[in-house]
Amino acid sequence: MDDFIAGLPKCELHLHIEGTLEPELKFELARRNGIELPYSTPEEVRAAYEFDSLTSFLVGYYAGMDVLRAEPDFYDLATAYLTKAASQNVRYAEIFFDPQAHTSRGVPFDAVIRGLRRAVMDAERRSGIRAQLIMCFLRDHSAAYAMATLLESLPYREWIVGVGLDSDERGNPPVKFAEVFARARREGYLLTMHCDVDQDDTTEHIRQCLDVIGVDRIDHGVNALDDPELVEKIRARGIGLTVCPVSNSFVTDGPKADVVRRMLDLGLRVTINSDDPAYFLAYVAENLATVADELGLTRAELAALERNAFEAAWLPRAVKDAYL
Ligand code: ADE
Ligand code: ZN
Repeated sequence: MDDFIAGLPKCELHLHIEGTLEPELKFELARRNGIELPYSTPEEVRAAYEFDSLTSFLVGYYAGMDVLRAEPDFYDLATAYLTKAASQNVRYAEIFFDPQAHTSRGVPFDAVIRGLRRAVMDAERRSGIRAQLIMCFLRDHSAAYAMATLLESLPYREWIVGVGLDSDERGNPPVKFAEVFARARREGYLLTMHCDVDQDDTTEHIRQCLDVIGVDRIDHGVNALDDPELVEKIRARGIGLTVCPVSNSFVTDGPKADVVRRMLDLGLRVTINSDDPAYFLAYVAENLATVADELGLTRAELAALERNAFEAAWLPRAVKDAYL
């Protein structure tokens, strides 16, 4: 089955570029930028990973980004991910980035987006992998800061396919950003939002995504399974759910792969993704292998998961059809 998974053409739709920062690159960037890390080896960095909730993960995730300071750092970060993804036969990826995690530290928006964009263009020329960028707002910051970030992105509109919402969900519902997302829609961005697993009020957040924001996709969205009305809306609208099984197993002690089986059986457009692979130690192929193992998936079911992902991708119909 591993060989089948390795050869399967893949599409990844839920991937935080900052969550692909491997400790080896972290050391290289720290050296480049004259930063002293509180660890002496990459192994020590990995040994210190201890996540048992989204909050505990986010603390290390934001701290780790401090080595990203200038355009070449973002270029190297995205190049490393795209090289790894291409080696797993990922043909197309939609990549989240968190500009506020950088602009709040004094890194210019331009350095972030220009480095990522250059990496995407070079990777396509080098290996044929295609990618588009999705700008995420940090939901634990204010709606005003998100709006300012949205406005800052407009000169780069052609380099960004859509906007998302991530970070700490507790007390930060979708409706907090209703105006920001309405404006993003008017600017032509497609819309997605995290509804993380087992956060407070997650089903209410999914309802807001569907009824108030009008999202095109939902990231995670696993708790929709608790509410048949939500399931029916998601199914009827053909909304893609970007599930991240290994990530979920780290940040919750709840179900992991079995939700994928339930979503498949309900006819939902479920897709398998890696979220923050450097931290959860699993890229998309390892996520697929985990699900295949736990559920005993057939080859046809694995292929169906990748077809779901290409269907849910933010690409023109004709481009999707060429992948399918
Ligand atoms: N930022 C990076 N990964 C995230 C996740 N899984 N949920 C919310 N915010 C994130
Ligand atoms: Zn995520």
